[in-house]
Amino acid sequence: MSSTKPVAVALIGAGRIGASHAEIVARRLKNATLAAIADPAPGAAARLADQLECPLTYTDIDELLANPEIEAVIIASPARFHTNLAVAAARAGKAVFCEKPMALTLADAELAIAAAREAGVPLQVGFNRRWDRAFAEGKAAIEAGKVGTPQLLRSLTRDPGPFGADPARIPPWTVFFETLIHDFDTLLWLNAGARATEVYAVADALVRPDFKDKGLLDTAVVTIRFDNGAVAVAEANFSAMYGYDIRGEVFGSGGMVSMGDVRRSSMTLFDKDGVSNDTWRLDTDHFIDGYTAELHAFVASVRSGRNSGPDGADAKAALEIALACIASVTERRPVALAEIRG
Ligand SMILES: NC(=O)c1ccc[n+]([C@@H]2O[C@H](COP(=O)([O-])OP(=O)(O)OC[C@H]3O[C@@H](n4cnc5c(N)ncnc54)[C@H](O)[C@@H]3O)[C@@H](O)[C@H]2O)c1
Repeated sequence: MSSTKPVAVALIGAGRIGASHAEIVARRLKNATLAAIADPAPGAAARLADQLECPLTYTDIDELLANPEIEAVIIASPARFHTNLAVAAARAGKAVFCEKPMALTLADAELAIAAAREAGVPLQVGFNRRWDRAFAEGKAAIEAGKVGTPQLLRSLTRDPGPFGADPARIPPWTVFFETLIHDFDTLLWLNAGARATEVYAVADALVRPDFKDKGLLDTAVVTIRFDNGAVAVAEANFSAMYGYDIRGEVFGSGGMVSMGDVRRSSMTLFDKDGVSNDTWRLDTDHFIDGYTAELHAFVASVRSGRNSGPDGADAKAALEIALACIASVTERRPVALAEIRG
């Protein structure tokens, strides 16, 4: 097989983010082809395959994994299925791109890491913020020593409002497992080499207080201490009425970098109402270039055998902080990471 042959990629889970990833593979990547789509919901894979001219669809994931033509999979199912799908795909010899969170327990994270290692396949996790231009440039500035030793870090995720999801369908602790997990990875990545030592988290249902007694948490603030002395704050909210707001900041002994901008572009309107900018409203718009870069890197790793993106160990490190947050909110106290790591 020629090493320049496009990688045959299959999508598992044809929902919102899966559809965006599949479109990127089909239309934006030169080093890949969208070879198949699998989704257990009747018609879901076929509908997306029609739009993207993808030749093969499955409702049975095992059948997809048994197809020897498929070299790599993108897992974009609901979170609770990620570990089992990642393990099954790795054991079938497929390179694995797994949306976050890769696992909901440390034991599951270790299972996925071991499965990829034993199969000798790349395992990349969907921490797409690392591939956003502003965040990548911020990271480069930190690595070049421009901000000195990191002392204070900040990362925030405010999802675009108005909040339209059915709160009854949001799994418990989503604000930590699926939302702030991005911020935890971003903070670990920007504060490279440091380990989190202690977490204190406060969370509430401020967007939909009527669902608080059913377990919804839609707002959270987390303080994280690191073993290099730095302190970070991460915050999230499910309904920013002004748009999709993702920002980060690293302040150190030599200066500061800030990353992220809710404004769509530098176009600024001056009119009778004053001065205004349009804002990002969707992750799949804001991060389209970042998603493309992360998937391009994943596909390249299939041919090179070298993963250049966030891997299973990164997924586990971010998960440790999420689990510490859950313990902190439950017990209303600071939680040492040593308690979570055991
Ligand atoms: N990195 C990011 O920026 C980003 C953005 C959005 C979502 N996500 C993550 O992606 C995942 C999917 O989110 P979504 O919003 O696209 O969800 P979604 O509900 O829109 O789509 C999930 C799809 O998976 C299918 N599915 C259900 N069970 C399955 C199984 N056992 N195997 C395979 N497919 C199955 C469903 O039929 C559905 O089509 C979540 O873990 C979420 O946290 C990441």
